[in-house]
Amino acid sequence: MSRVTVSRLRRMKQAGEKIVSLTAYDASFAWLIEDAGVEVILVGDSLGMVFQGWDSTIPVTLDDMVYHTRAVSRGTRESLLIADMPFASYGSTEQALASAARLMQEGGAQMVKLEVTGEMTEIVRFLAQRGVPVCAHLGLLPQTVHKLGGYKVQGRGEAGEALIRDALAMEAAGADLIVAELIPVEVAKRLSESVSIPVIGIGAGVDCDGQVLVLYDMLGITPGKRPRFSKDFLQEAGSVSAALRVYVESVKERRFPGPEHRIA
Ligand code: KIV
Repeated sequence: MSRVTVSRLRRMKQAGEKIVSLTAYDASFAWLIEDAGVEVILVGDSLGMVFQGWDSTIPVTLDDMVYHTRAVSRGTRESLLIADMPFASYGSTEQALASAARLMQEGGAQMVKLEVTGEMTEIVRFLAQRGVPVCAHLGLLPQTVHKLGGYKVQGRGEAGEALIRDALAMEAAGADLIVAELIPVEVAKRLSESVSIPVIGIGAGVDCDGQVLVLYDMLGITPGKRPRFSKDFLQEAGSVSAALRVYVESVKERRFPGPEHRIA
């Protein structure tokens, strides 16, 4: 099988086939995740919390992201590999391009993900015009946690309309993919229907074009309380490989997320 491409993801959206994504931080898990049939592997800066033990993603550096992306890339051949641009690594167009270049050239990523608002279309356009595939992360932006005052649902009421405008602006700027985090189910549905690029949801209901989860949450090994929108697949499946396969099947067959995972 050849590598999953952005055009294949678009075709999946058009055909109504759900896209399955998971985070990974090392080569062994990446291999298992790909073997289970996950199309998109994200080296998320969530590694700062689940791997490094920080209480937010803010301490994660570009060097950290390059290191983990290199490791994950050695465990994948077919999945599309996305690397997160960490906090303060895309403050200007030039800095964003330099950071993306490291993640792609040294890390082996095929796409980079940026936490964005509607005011950041210039950065997305600059990257896209220079051949960098971009995933625009909308909704809850964990890198802004100290401004937000916590990990709260975004996009309620009027803010939902703004989110849809932001998604359209990101598509027009050249983004290839959207991640929508912790937004009301109805907003996520409208957002997914409004753009022609695929929308991968987390804590955003079943109507997105695909789903992503933090690997350690879905294996039940994140210390403390698991987010309500996630599920411990290892508990019912009994082994890591089986848990990954059940997750893939559950997303493909629209059984995950279920009504019990709805948060807004
Ligand atoms: O860092 C991460 O793992 C993410 C996902 C939660 C989408 O951004």
